[in-house]
Amino acid sequence: MEKTFVIIKPDGVKRHLIGQILHEYERNGLEIADMKMIHADVDTVKAHYAEHVEKPFFQELVDYLTSGPIVILVLQGEDAVARVRALNGATNPEEAGVNTIRALYAVSLSENTVHASDSLESAEREIGIWFN
Ligand code: CMP
Repeated sequence: MEKTFVIIKPDGVKRHLIGQILHEYERNGLEIADMKMIHADVDTVKAHYAEHVEKPFFQELVDYLTSGPIVILVLQGEDAVARVRALNGATNPEEAGVNTIRALYAVSLSENTVHASDSLESAEREIGIWFN
């Protein structure tokens, strides 16, 4: 049994997609172990995206994630990390597979509706940052 960390980003919340996104995870056998709607603060988002600090889009990423309410959740299930990544689809919605969450809902690379941990180590780290 694995746990992974997910963010429903401001574009997902704003466009009333929380229910549909949660339904997609739940109907695929993932269990919601923890969940909260919050307005993220800058320091938490910077800690979360620390690996991108040198990237040209870092400031845009931080500004975006703090621009409105988000939903943070912990999903659990067998192979949860890989399965949630597969359900989300590629980071760039133009490259996301048919019927993935990002193919269906994402607006752009930055407004790509959801984030999910890319490994078990990242999941542990991210859950620790957001649910401390
Ligand atoms: P996420 O899975 O949350 O992890 C890092 C985020 O950075 C990614 O989704 C994208 O939303 C964002 N991102 C990646 N590349 C770019 C880019 N070139 N321009 C803007 N945002 C980006």
